[in-house]
Amino acid sequence: MDESIRIDPWSSSQSTDYQRIIDQFGLSSLESLNIPSPSLLHRRNIVFAHRDLDVILRAKSKQNSFGVLTGLMPSGRMHLGHKMVIDQVKWFQDLGADVTIAVADLEAHATRGLSLQECRKNAMEEYISNYSAMGLNPEKTNIYFQSERPIVQRLGFTLGKKTNLSEIESIYGFNGETNLAHIQAPLVQVGDIVHPMLDEYGGIRPIVVPVGIDQDPHLRLTRGLTSKSNWFNLKVGKDGGLSISLSVQDENSKMLGVFSDGKIDRKSRDNLFQNLVEMLKKIGFSDFIKNPKHGTLGIPSATKLDYDDVKRVLLSLERSMGGLGLLQPSSTYHKFAVGMNGDKMSSSKPNSTIFLTDQVKDIQKKIKSAFSGGKSTVEEHKRYGGNPDIDVAYQYLMYFFEEDDEYLRELNEGYRSGKILAGKMKEICIEKAISWMKTHQELKQQNSHLVQEFLSY
Ligand code: TRP
Repeated sequence: MDESIRIDPWSSSQSTDYQRIIDQFGLSSLESLNIPSPSLLHRRNIVFAHRDLDVILRAKSKQNSFGVLTGLMPSGRMHLGHKMVIDQVKWFQDLGADVTIAVADLEAHATRGLSLQECRKNAMEEYISNYSAMGLNPEKTNIYFQSERPIVQRLGFTLGKKTNLSEIESIYGFNGETNLAHIQAPLVQVGDIVHPMLDEYGGIRPIVVPVGIDQDPHLRLTRGLTSKSNWFNLKVGKDGGLSISLSVQDENSKMLGVFSDGKIDRKSRDNLFQNLVEMLKKIGFSDFIKNPKHGTLGIPSATKLDYDDVKRVLLSLERSMGGLGLLQPSSTYHKFAVGMNGDKMSSSKPNSTIFLTDQVKDIQKKIKSAFSGGKSTVEEHKRYGGNPDIDVAYQYLMYFFEEDDEYLRELNEGYRSGKILAGKMKEICIEKAISWMKTHQELKQQNSHLVQEFLSY
């Protein structure tokens, strides 16, 4: 039996073995990081893993710019699961990130059959109007449509050269029957993720993509493609120091001093090293171990604390020579709240979640009939206690509606000990959910004039 976990953006099953996910996919746990002003999602370990989030946090602490990016599928209705991503985007915005949001209209058109016009209408009415209610700052948020930003397709095309069918198959579990829109869409998404680093969209800076764990394949693909496209590799040496090596590829060999017969063009190689050294001197290094012939340059006095700065120099040199100069995106991963019926949350199953346009009576009905972690009789419940880990009402308080950690802890303990009954937990959840929704709807009204300002042209 295959013991490995498959993670797949299109599957309906969900693994909740988060430690194994971290191990298998080489993610880092969030525990070792010092998260500034942690949101409830961080405090409750709902955002549980990352790749290179430290790069973002270092940029913040050095007051360098950084961005956050996400995308939306304009085909369904916005629900609590979508809200959770925007909460994180807002959190990054509050830390100082610029925000880019892709409306995946090309993807929705190709894979779900909506017209681009329907996509636009849906994006505005279902999603962007809620973003303004959730407090995203329109002046620091750029929302664009894939169909209107041809560069994202072009990047997907260009970077597509660095992968092949076998790799795509192994990342996504595709086979011969898979239609090609499922291959094009991830490549356009790669374009979405990296394009904010282009000069006309803000320039080289770290970009973080907060996603549900099922979206990690897209990030693995994007990170792989960006690093393969880099002209200079950078490594922390075994005994400290940083070492740079050239990554000679078809499209850059001439620029990196390789003749078409494969021999080294000493003059151009020396020139390149000269430029490299000049740029590194400007950021404070003076001691180098040069080996132009092998295409390596050591900086013995540098440490891993200098990694980000040196990387940036390498990317801008690459870019000035005609390369893309892309940094690998960072990412964070959140767990999923269970669907209200105990299954997966899904736009196509209205009872599995709460939509941001639900009425009070919908909310009441959904929470009342939600999956409960209580015992089947009151006596048993009082005696043995309930299980908050699988109780939808408790889980929704934890994920979405209850800010107060201390109160939440009381609810948890009260439920486990049997003091709080399942009906009571639902009642508390209904009350909090309704009050959240009321505020949300009010803000949505108040901020409706801002919706157009989120769009960038
Ligand atoms: N494919 C994503 C979805 O199904 C939407 C999306 C498009 C996206 N581009 C993106 C998500 C970039 C994150 C980053 O929801």
